[in-house]
Amino acid sequence: MCGIVGYLGKQKAFPILLEGLKRLEYRGYDSSGISLLDEELHTFKKKGKVSELEKFEDALNSEAQLGIGHTRWATHGKPDDLNAHPHHSGNNRLALVHNGIIENYSTLKEYLVSQGHEFKSETDTEVLVHLIEEIQETQNLDLETAIRFALKKVVGAFAIAVIDKEQPDIIVGARKSSPLVVGVGEDEFFIASDATPIIKYTNKIIYLDDDEIVTIQRGKEVQIKSLENEMVDYTIEKVDLKLEEIEKSGYDHFMLKEIFQQDESIYEAMRGRINAAEGWVTVGGMQDHYNRIANAERFIIVACGTSWHAGMIAEYIFEELARIPVEVEYASEFRYRNPIIGPKDVVIALSQSGETADTLSALELAKEKGALIYGIVNNVGSSIARFTDCGSYIHAGPEIGVASTKAFTSQLVVLTLMALDLAHKRGTITKSHFQKLISEFELIPQKVKSVLSQAENIKSIASEIKSASNALYLGRGYNFPIALEGALKLKEISYIHAEGYPAAEMKHGPIALIDMYMPVIVIATNKNAYEKIFSNVQEVKARKGIVIAIVSEGDTEIKKIADFTIEIPHTEDVFSPLLSSIPLQLLAYYIAVMRGCNVDQPRNLAKSVTVE
Ligand code: AGP
Ligand code: GLU
Repeated sequence: MCGIVGYLGKQKAFPILLEGLKRLEYRGYDSSGISLLDEELHTFKKKGKVSELEKFEDALNSEAQLGIGHTRWATHGKPDDLNAHPHHSGNNRLALVHNGIIENYSTLKEYLVSQGHEFKSETDTEVLVHLIEEIQETQNLDLETAIRFALKKVVGAFAIAVIDKEQPDIIVGARKSSPLVVGVGEDEFFIASDATPIIKYTNKIIYLDDDEIVTIQRGKEVQIKSLENEMVDYTIEKVDLKLEEIEKSGYDHFMLKEIFQQDESIYEAMRGRINAAEGWVTVGGMQDHYNRIANAERFIIVACGTSWHAGMIAEYIFEELARIPVEVEYASEFRYRNPIIGPKDVVIALSQSGETADTLSALELAKEKGALIYGIVNNVGSSIARFTDCGSYIHAGPEIGVASTKAFTSQLVVLTLMALDLAHKRGTITKSHFQKLISEFELIPQKVKSVLSQAENIKSIASEIKSASNALYLGRGYNFPIALEGALKLKEISYIHAEGYPAAEMKHGPIALIDMYMPVIVIATNKNAYEKIFSNVQEVKARKGIVIAIVSEGDTEIKKIADFTIEIPHTEDVFSPLLSSIPLQLLAYYIAVMRGCNVDQPRNLAKSVTVE
């Protein structure tokens, strides 16, 4: 995790770095720091949010036009001032920021201590800057060469940016398994974990690949080399990202903005891929490898967190419509359990950020074993997007709130479109069924709008249950993963313990938890198993639980016995998660706000988990 930013140009560096770090704060917010370089190296760092840095008068007044900054998600060493990045070399000549984990840091540290280096922090990162210093001093090398030599000794993941008092016109960056991009402006350069801190100044971006080292220097062209010291050709890409997309646009929180964008983001995920009037669905990303995908023996979906929940729903959808067997795996488990996988498998990676380290390493393993790798990703140009053989972007636009919302529904749209495309062409559903489904699917953005219009009702329900210590979420079929997702949303942002269960499983254990203090959120929109879920609600009520039911418009039965109901439009069961997930996002959001939690930056979390 962690966000990195660097600036070199003709403007005052501090305000640019500060603003850049605020844009990257979704990546971590344990501490932050900035080093500025004029004739001297000045470092300002502090535990807590990036705004803490605004208290440094000297930084605000600095005229320095070069600097690097960092917002941290601690892996090694507690979040405090000393462990905050940037870290200095012992001779105070170098400052370095790092995103990732140096796995062999203790061996390196032992060696460096034996050479007389003294460490100030508990981080793994600090060994890097001392190692570069050691190499630079003993072999009298320039910064870039010393970094190159140092990185050869390092095991782990890193994106780094380093500055050197003796070379006051350059920033050197490098990456392996953690993202890093370079922005090329007029007489100015940027380096950052993603394009969001850069976009205000330039849309010209270079994406660094693993094992590459970049030098940006005043008045010179960007230079990229491999760790073997070979020049690397690169392309400058024009990134299509608008500033308003990464601002709150009048909403109190990014999360709320992103929840309310879902009628549009769902539409964007569908755009150009479906046309009910003409009777077709086509997912462009599948075309180049269509035969291999359509004839796959198995789909294996790998993902983490919310994306994993989207994967679970996809299992139901693919099997129901396209009759292709699906397995859904936590990427972190898949990676380390020697899975059986081969060239007839298609491995589908789901990732909003496209940077999740667990997912990326699962894909590396799957590729080694010969599977076709398909990526469903939001973040354009991200590591996962570039690693896959083929794939589809979900086009949700930047998702900044740490809790994933619109990316989840957009992932579901793309997965559903893939299933419909395959079902149609493989003939696993009839033409009339296909036509009926796609006609309904096109109505989903409108129906989402109608769900969103219930925000006030959901807010008032939130106020009734905001003081609960636990909550149970129940759903069946397509809505079982929605129960898991609803519980995850509540946990993440309100810190209320919550669990999701298949409704029928309740009687096998969790029912013991139910009493008059337990809110039970039941997703009961299913046409299929309505009676069954109705009985589950009765069982909860019989034990005095508080039932919040999400039902289809016009429901009469469950409404009679539930304490609170949220009505959502009717749709086909297979599309119901797209509607039923939204009230649960809003419920979690309002509860968290009422409890005074920071919903966009919940404690201990980060948006993009780039460590395993
Ligand atoms: C969702 O609200 C989470 N914060 C988290 O579970 C997330 O979905 C997970 O880390 C996967 O991220 P990705 O989609 O960017 O790979
Ligand atoms: N390992 C470094 C630290 O703990 C960087 C952490 C990260 O990138 O998440 O400070």
